Amino acid sequence: MTVPVLTIDGPSGAGKGTVSRAVARKLNWNYLDSGSIYRSLAIAASIAGIDINNESSAAAVAEKMELAFDCGDELSVFLNGENITQLLSLESTAKSASIVAAWPEVRRVLLQKQRDFKVLPGLVADGRDMGTVVFPEAKIKVFLTASADERALRRYKQLKEKGIDANLAQITCEIEERDRRDRERASAPLIIAEDAVLIDSSTMSIESVIAEVLALIP
Ligand code: DC
Repeated sequence: MTVPVLTIDGPSGAGKGTVSRAVARKLNWNYLDSGSIYRSLAIAASIAGIDINNESSAAAVAEKMELAFDCGDELSVFLNGENITQLLSLESTAKSASIVAAWPEVRRVLLQKQRDFKVLPGLVADGRDMGTVVFPEAKIKVFLTASADERALRRYKQLKEKGIDANLAQITCEIEERDRRDRERASAPLIIAEDAVLIDSSTMSIESVIAEVLALIP
């Protein structure tokens, strides 16, 4: 039986995580947060004292790491049995993740780990290359974006709400730098799949984005 797959790709901070989780919950489908796999690898490399600028060392860590996901209200991630959820959202983790994610050998190693999430009754896959590389066969593809300024503002508010000191100009710079790295890398760059539906969430509420995505499901 074919497993239905909905892919949601786009840059950081466009709302992919919130939208994907809500849609997966509504449909009772599985959820793949592929960014958390690259973030976990960045953490695993840091724990192992590995230089992430070295492709084969980073790929060797990717090969060995054991990840487990617990999809409650918020996603919890366990690396080799240890709960690393708190470390996943750090800006330093995001930055290292975008460096390891640029290595073709790392992406090759992580491909099957991501495809293993495709099980019945269906999958919502969130990332950068879900519709182009990992699940090109997906019948429903979304490219969710928002302006860099709006994405930076959302991140700034999120940090403030958590009581974390944040600087809007610095966040905007970091987002633009990460976008550039994700778009310009040779291996699986962030591009819009030909058959994807483009949604710009800059001026939309999260509820209306969720409704628009759900309306695409046959
Ligand atoms: O979505 P995110 O911010 O958690 O992703 C972290 C980094 O991982 C981001 O810089 C891009 C990379 N990534 C990727 O290259 N491919 C994916 N499918 C998901 C994330």
